[in-house]
Amino acid sequence: MEYASRRLIFREFTDLDFSLYYSIFSNAQVMKYTLMDPFKSEEEALPYYQRILSNNKEILKRSAYEFGVFLSMDKSFIGFADIMILFKNDFGGCGEIGYFLLPCYWGYGYATEISKTLINISFKELNLHKVSARCNSNNLHSENVMKKAGMIKEGEIRKVRYKNGHWDNELQYGIVKEDWDFFNN
Ligand SMILES: CC(C)(COP(=O)(O)OP(=O)(O)OC[C@H]1O[C@@H](n2cnc3c(N)ncnc32)[C@H](O)[C@@H]1OP(=O)(O)O)[C@@H](O)C(=O)NCCC(=O)NCCS
Repeated sequence: MEYASRRLIFREFTDLDFSLYYSIFSNAQVMKYTLMDPFKSEEEALPYYQRILSNNKEILKRSAYEFGVFLSMDKSFIGFADIMILFKNDFGGCGEIGYFLLPCYWGYGYATEISKTLINISFKELNLHKVSARCNSNNLHSENVMKKAGMIKEGEIRKVRYKNGHWDNELQYGIVKEDWDFFNN
């Protein structure tokens, strides 16, 4: 499965891409505000990567779409993006998007391009009716991305994320298909 946006290519990970995945999720700067702490070893990360590879083969009950993101210009690896399917039936469904970039690619608008692409895939290809995103309330970069992608703040849940020695709040943003269609047609 592969998608493209203006400057980016989204493709599923293969057996050969473990080092790319590990470069993101072992990076302390990337993981500063995320739910999980950075991996400390390849051994720790490998089961998570294997779960991604096996999920890529799932056709009927697919619960997640996880992509490596590359620059279309020179094929450099810039990060990880995903859509988790939270619930789905014949009438629609709810998904949650995530995005993690190597720090050298922050500040170029790539995360905004990624989130808009993931939302578009969710509504147009996966037939979801609602897409959400969550972040640590201190993660201002991530909250900005949600806003720029057209998502609306739906709430702030108090003290649900243990990070860096304290319990932090979580922001929840979302967008429904009608709003997306209205602003993108
Ligand atoms: C969250 C994260 C993905 C945001 O990345 P980012 O680079 O700050 O976000 P964007 O890609 O939207 O780009 C931001 C800046 O790029 C600049 N930019 C440069 N060229 C641009 C372009 N062509 N289009 C849009 N913005 C552009 C803008 O000035 C923008 O800043 P502004 O919103 O203050 O105006 C990144 O900080 C990250 O990977 N963090 C670690 C992982 C993480 O926390 N993920 C979220 C988990 S919930």
